[in-house]
Amino acid sequence: MATGVTKSIWDNLSCVIPIEGYLGNNDYELVYPYKRQFSEIIQTLSKSNYKEIFHNDNMNSIYFGENFDVLCHLYHGLNLGDKINLIYIDPPFSTNSVFQSRNQRNSYKDDLIGSHYIEFMRIRLILLRELLSTDGSIFVHLDNNMLFQIKIIMDEIFGSKNFRGFITRKKCSNKNYTKNTYGNISDYILFYSKTDSYKWHRPTETWSNEKILKEYPFIDELTGRRYKKVPIHAPGSRNGETGKTWKGMLPPPGKHWQYTPEKLTEFDEKGEIYWSSNGNPRRKVFLEEDKGVPVQDIWLNLQDSLNQNIKITGYPTEKNPYLLERIINASSDKDDLILDCFAGSGTTLDVANQLGRKFIGIDNSLEAVTNIIKRFSLGLEEMGDYVNIKNKKQGLFVFSPTTNYNPDNSKSTNFSFFTDEEYVDIATILLEKYLYDRNKTTY
Ligand SMILES: C[S@@+](CC[C@H](N)C(=O)[O-])C[C@H]1O[C@@H](n2cnc3c(N)ncnc32)[C@H](O)[C@@H]1O
Repeated sequence: MATGVTKSIWDNLSCVIPIEGYLGNNDYELVYPYKRQFSEIIQTLSKSNYKEIFHNDNMNSIYFGENFDVLCHLYHGLNLGDKINLIYIDPPFSTNSVFQSRNQRNSYKDDLIGSHYIEFMRIRLILLRELLSTDGSIFVHLDNNMLFQIKIIMDEIFGSKNFRGFITRKKCSNKNYTKNTYGNISDYILFYSKTDSYKWHRPTETWSNEKILKEYPFIDELTGRRYKKVPIHAPGSRNGETGKTWKGMLPPPGKHWQYTPEKLTEFDEKGEIYWSSNGNPRRKVFLEEDKGVPVQDIWLNLQDSLNQNIKITGYPTEKNPYLLERIINASSDKDDLILDCFAGSGTTLDVANQLGRKFIGIDNSLEAVTNIIKRFSLGLEEMGDYVNIKNKKQGLFVFSPTTNYNPDNSKSTNFSFFTDEEYVDIATILLEKYLYDRNKTTY
C-alpha cells in the first residue's frame, strides 16, 4: 500500500509547475440547464400552512408533506437554521421506477432523472446545510447511479474540505447475476460535516475470538494477560529526547523512540517491555487496553436483506436500523436533534428516539407516513415466511450485542404530527386509527 509523503518535500522541486488560474479545491462545478441561483433557493418561503394535528410535548415531529416546502418552513418559519445536529437522508436513487410495499401498496415514485434529479437534490441540500449546526454532519445514502454527480454537488455546497468519508455498504447477499458484469451488492453513503469542528465518537467493533487469538497471540507469564508485541521506534530521526540513548541503545538508523527514555523505563519497570533473546525491546500491548477495532469505510455486516429477519414495516427500501445506530452514535450526542427529510418507514426516527435523540421526519408519501405511524403505535412485524429459524436462534442478525436499539420498543415512540391543510382530514383518520389501536393495546 502506497502512502503519500508530506507535500513540503516537493515544494522546491522544479517538476511541480503551478498552473495559471488554478484556484484550489473548489474551482469547478457541475453545469446543467436550469441550475437555480443560491440566493433564490435560500429565500424561498414555504407555500403551505402546516397544522399540528397531533401533539406531544417532546420535540419529535413528523411532517406529512413535500420536503423542500417543509425545509423552507423549518428554516424561515421555525428559525431552525444551525439547529439540526445530524442529518441522514436516503432519497430516491434516480432509478426511474416505482416502489411498492410488501403488501403491494404504491409507496413512492423514483422518476426524476438527469439534471432534473440533480437539481431536485441540490436545492434540498442547500437548505439542509443552512439547517445544520456548525458541529453537525450530514450522511447521504445513494447507489452508483447518481453518486458521483451528487458528490460534486455536495462539494459545491459543503466544500470539498468538509468531505469526511465515502462509505461502501454491502446492501444485500451475493446475487446470481445473469448480466455480463460484476454482481451489484453495494450502495454508498457520502459523509460531510458543516465545518472542520464536528462531533465524532469513533465507532469500534469488538474483536471476535478468532481475531483475538491472531492479533494478541502472547500470554504474559506474570499476569496471564493476553498481549501483542509492537515496535517501540518510528520512522524519522529526532534530535530531542526520543533520539537519545536508552539502556545503552540508540534508536535504529533513521528512526526515533516512540516514547522518551524516561517513559520507556517506566514501561520496563511495569513489565510492559518484551526483550527478545538477542536483546531487542518491544512494547507489550494488552488486550484489555484495546478499545476495539475502529470501523473502516467498508461496511459488510449491515445488509438490509438480512435485516428482514429481524422485524420491519415492509416499506420498500427500508434501511437496516443498525446502520443508523452506528451513524447516530458516532456523529451525535444525547438530546441532539436529528433530521431525515426522506423518512420512508421512519427507520432514522425510530433509532434516533431509542438512542435518546429528538427527531424531525418528513415524507410526502401516504404509505410512508402510514408505516411510520404504525411503527410507532403497533410496532414492527416479523417477515414471517422469510424468517430463518436456524439463523434466528444463532442470533446471526443481531449486529452488535451492545446495541441500544430494540425493534420491540418502536411502538411506544411519542411524536407530534404536522401536515398541510389539504391533508388534514386524511391524516387525522390515519392517526386516529392507529393511535386508537395503540391505546387499545396499552390498556
Ligand atoms: C428510499 S425511501 C427512504 C426509506 C427509509 N430510509 C426507510 O428506512 O424506510 C425514500 C423516501 O423519500 C420520499 N420522498 C421522495 N421525494 C420526496 C419529497 N419531495 N418530499 C418528501 N418525501 C419524499 C419517498 O416517499 C420515500 O418514502
